[in-house]
Amino acid sequence: MRIAFLTGAGMSAESGVPTFRDALTGLWSRYDAMTLATEDAFRRDPALVWGWYRWRAAMVRRARPNAGHFGIAEFVRSGHAVEVVTQNVDDLHERGGMREAIHLHGRLFASRCLDCGATREPDPIVDGLDAIVDGVRETPPACDACGGPFRPGVVWFGEALPEDAWASAVAVLGRCELLVVVGTSGLVHPAASLPRLASTRGTRVIEINPVDSAVSPLAHECLRMPAGAGIRILLERYA
Ligand code: APR
Repeated sequence: MRIAFLTGAGMSAESGVPTFRDALTGLWSRYDAMTLATEDAFRRDPALVWGWYRWRAAMVRRARPNAGHFGIAEFVRSGHAVEVVTQNVDDLHERGGMREAIHLHGRLFASRCLDCGATREPDPIVDGLDAIVDGVRETPPACDACGGPFRPGVVWFGEALPEDAWASAVAVLGRCELLVVVGTSGLVHPAASLPRLASTRGTRVIEINPVDSAVSPLAHECLRMPAGAGIRILLERYA
C-alpha cells in the first residue's frame, strides 16, 4: 500500500526535542518561538537567533530517533511504498531509517549565507556542537565569499516554502492510499492544508496525536496517543 506520513514536532517529542509550541526554556524563556523564527529577528539580533538554532542543533544531535521514527521505516521493510513529508527541521526521520524525507520547513543542518546563499562544508552550525549545553548568544560565522552572516537553513515565518519540497509534498498527498498525520497542531499553513488535499480525494486519513488538533475533524480515525504507540498499532494492523 502507498502510505504517506505527514509529521510535525510531536513526532520528535519522545526523542526529547521540544515541540514548537512548548514553552521555551533558559535564555529564550522570555521569547515566543514565533518571534525568534523570523528574518527580522535574525537581522535585529543575529547572535540571539543563531545561538537559539545552535542550541536546537545541539539538542537534536544528542537526541536519538524514537520508536515512531523506527516504526515508519519498518513499514518500508514490510513492503509498503512509504513517503514522509515533515514540518520538522531535525534529521531524526533519516537517522531513524528513512532514506529520505521531504522537509517542508527546511533543515537545521543546511545553513547558508543570508546575503549570497553560499554554503560551507562542514555546515558551520555543527562546529563544536558537543560543547553547547545551555543556550548562549553567539555571533553567526561570516560567509567566506561575501562576508554576510550565516543563517540556519530553516524556513522562517513569512518566508516561502522551498518550491521543490512543496511540489513533492503535493504530489505525495495526491497519490497516497493512506495518510497518517503524526504530531502536528495543524495550525501553520500551507502545510496545514495538505491533509484536506488527501481527504477530498477520498484517501483514508488517520491522526496520531495525544490531543485534538486542527487536523482531527478531517481524520477518519484519531489515535489519541503518542507517536511511538500509534505507529506500533498501525504496524500491527497494516504491516
Ligand atoms: N506524539 C504525537 N504528538 C505529540 C506528542 C507525541 N509524543 N507530543 C505532542 N504532540 C502533539 C501536540 O499535541 C501538538 O498537536 O504535537 C503537536 C505539536 O504541535 P506544534 O508544536 O504546533 O508543532 P507543529 O504542528 O509541527 O508546528 C508546525 O509551526 O512553528 C512552526 O515551523 C514550525 O514546523 C513548525 C510548524
